[in-house]
Amino acid sequence: MSDIYQNLINGQWVDAASGETTENVNPADHSDVIGRFPNSGQEDVEAAVAAAKAAFESWSTTPAPERGEILYEAGRVLENSKEDYSAVMTREMGKIQAETRGDIQEAIDTAYYAAGEGRRMFGDTVPVEMPSKFGMSVRMPIGVCGLITPWNFPMAIPSWKIFPALICGNTVVIKPATDTPASVINFARVLEEAGVPPGVVNVVCGGGRAVGSPLVDHADVPVISFTGSSEVGREISSRAGERLKRVSLELGGKNAQIVMDDADLDLALEGALWGAFGTTGQRCTATSRVILHEAIAEEFTTALVQRASEMRLGNGLDARTEVGPVVNREQLETVERYVQIGQAEDGAELLCGGERATGDGLDNGWFHQPTIFGGVTRDMRIAREEIFGPVLACLTVGGLEEAIDVLNDTEYGLSSSIYTRDVNAAFTAIRDIQCGITYVNGPTIGAEVQLPFGGMKNTGNGHREASHTVLDVFSEWKSIYVDYSGALQRAQIDNREAE
Ligand code: UN1
Repeated sequence: MSDIYQNLINGQWVDAASGETTENVNPADHSDVIGRFPNSGQEDVEAAVAAAKAAFESWSTTPAPERGEILYEAGRVLENSKEDYSAVMTREMGKIQAETRGDIQEAIDTAYYAAGEGRRMFGDTVPVEMPSKFGMSVRMPIGVCGLITPWNFPMAIPSWKIFPALICGNTVVIKPATDTPASVINFARVLEEAGVPPGVVNVVCGGGRAVGSPLVDHADVPVISFTGSSEVGREISSRAGERLKRVSLELGGKNAQIVMDDADLDLALEGALWGAFGTTGQRCTATSRVILHEAIAEEFTTALVQRASEMRLGNGLDARTEVGPVVNREQLETVERYVQIGQAEDGAELLCGGERATGDGLDNGWFHQPTIFGGVTRDMRIAREEIFGPVLACLTVGGLEEAIDVLNDTEYGLSSSIYTRDVNAAFTAIRDIQCGITYVNGPTIGAEVQLPFGGMKNTGNGHREASHTVLDVFSEWKSIYVDYSGALQRAQIDNREAE
């Protein structure tokens, strides 16, 4: 008998209205069943939204510092649960436990950062043109927020959305990715234990069509925050657009690392390996292209291929494993499809990997070898399209200007990196790269909660998560004028004398 998990609606753990469940298994070992999860639908979404709506009045009028205290407690509970919950997360989606601990650490950092906002949440006070009149602005909660989250950061990304939504005074309904419901359920348990009142956070498990769509369409859900594919993001955006909802989207990427001829090559090599094959290449911020100055391209590629071929694949619970499985069969097939596309491109050369990984401990999981293509040019599909797996494309350029031009030559703009010792080159890259995040002498991954997270171009729709900037997604501005003159002063524009 596997564990049966339930939805959280109005503080109660309940089955889906349909009574149906779906089994979820470990991508590293299909005989390891995580549990059975509710197959929810419209009726469950209705109940969750109604609960969140009912809870809004009392939560939104709870003083923000008091809400913050509950978030601080959530951070502390997460710290104590880190070891257990990271093991579940590794079993559920495959990344190595050092990384699932990091995922939970990101949620802890976000808890404390958002909790602090409970005592800040700055607005403006500004001078006003009329005498005895006062002007200020404050952030207002909006209502029920619909959150749709991905499987690659099963707690971190829900935390990026839930904590800011809560500190602003909103209530939420979250639909976890079908591959990682257990981590979101564990996260909800933490919130319950920390003292988040019933109905403030509701979890409805199930598919995108069955649960996500009714959530996006619901008249009582004015805010939607989604992280996932560009294809789904477009659909959510247009459905929500018809209803004039606020939508925050965090979508695809095709992140690149530039390595200049003056770079510390050992450092750049470590960065590329971690950026490309950490999390099995399944981060939004993963490095999927390296753009190499021609003077070091051959030397660098040789070292890269050597190290990538030596990486240890396996179950992420084994401390010796460096690269876990791909999350599911569809994702593995996508990787395989792109390897074929790469092999068919004129000029591209498969330098290592290119196949499913088999052998000791791997045959019962979705493993793919770390894969590198050389001779890639900017027009090739493997240089332009997001793959979301352990596949790296190497491109060669003649200098900085061309490197930046190639880096920018995709529809996406999330993360980027340049390795150089030349301060002028670094600042030129900072200015000219069209991405939401640029690292100098670091890999394309490593974003911290204190700074905005998000991308330019088709990576999103202009919003940013993390930092204080995420408050713009989850609050509404109100401007307030207090006239204490005791007289009708009219608007300042109506009091100007004729010139
Ligand atoms: C993601 O890639 O989906 O910078 C999120 C990083 C992490 C967050 C990544 N802090 O890689």
